Amino acid sequence: MQKLVILIVTILFVSSAVALAVPGKKTLEFDKSPMGVVTFDGTIHKEAGVKCKECHNKDMFPKMKQGTVKITMDEIYASKQCGVCHNGGRAFDAKGNCGRCHVKK
Ligand code: HEC
Ligand code: HEC
Ligand code: HEC
Repeated sequence: MQKLVILIVTILFVSSAVALAVPGKKTLEFDKSPMGVVTFDGTIHKEAGVKCKECHNKDMFPKMKQGTVKITMDEIYASKQCGVCHNGGRAFDAKGNCGRCHVKK
């Protein structure tokens, strides 16, 4: 009986971990800018080898909930938020590459 409970708990735990990993495959749309909608693709970032913690930490996007951090270009140009990588270092520079993030719909 106890083994069965442990097994069930383990299954629940594993499946919730899988559910949590789904946002890695998810896309988020940021549609507040006049430049056009920015689609953040979890899969592209995952495949580029970016770990959850590299973005979900206290200095960047602490909460796994859209809308908790206001993303601005000033921050991005200052190599914060998306700009931690999108500054021509680890990923393409935001300056001059507006259309790789912003798409008018
Ligand atoms: C390249 C950066 C980055 C990486 C890597 C990343 N995220 Fe996120 N994630 C974000 C941003 C930005 C938001 C929106 C946060 C905000 O608005 O404050 C977000 C939001 C979320 C949300 C909330 C989605 C919603 O609909 O509100 C979940 C859940 C999440 N991330 C899970 C994960 C998990 C799990 C991983 C690792 C597999 C991961 N994220 C990797 C940047 C990232
Ligand atoms: C931890 C590093 C990191 C952070 C933070 C990050 N990215 Fe990326 N991003 C990458 C890498 C690496 C790639 C793939 C390589 C490349 O395209 O330069 C990428 C690719 C992209 C692409 C694909 C563009 C294309 O033309 O294929 C978009 C769009 C994008 N990121 C948007 C964002 C947005 C929006 C944010 C902030 C919410 C963000 N990224 C935060 C590392 C990051
Ligand atoms: C790495 C992705 C990325 C690139 C490249 C990028 N942006 Fe953004 N930008 C964002 C995100 C994310 C937001 C937040 C949108 C939201 O909250 O709906 C934003 C917001 C904005 C805003 C409104 C907020 C503010 O700070 O004024 C403007 C205007 C803007 N971008 C212009 C530009 C221009 C011009 C360029 C090219 C020189 C550019 N962006 C390149 C991701 C990017």
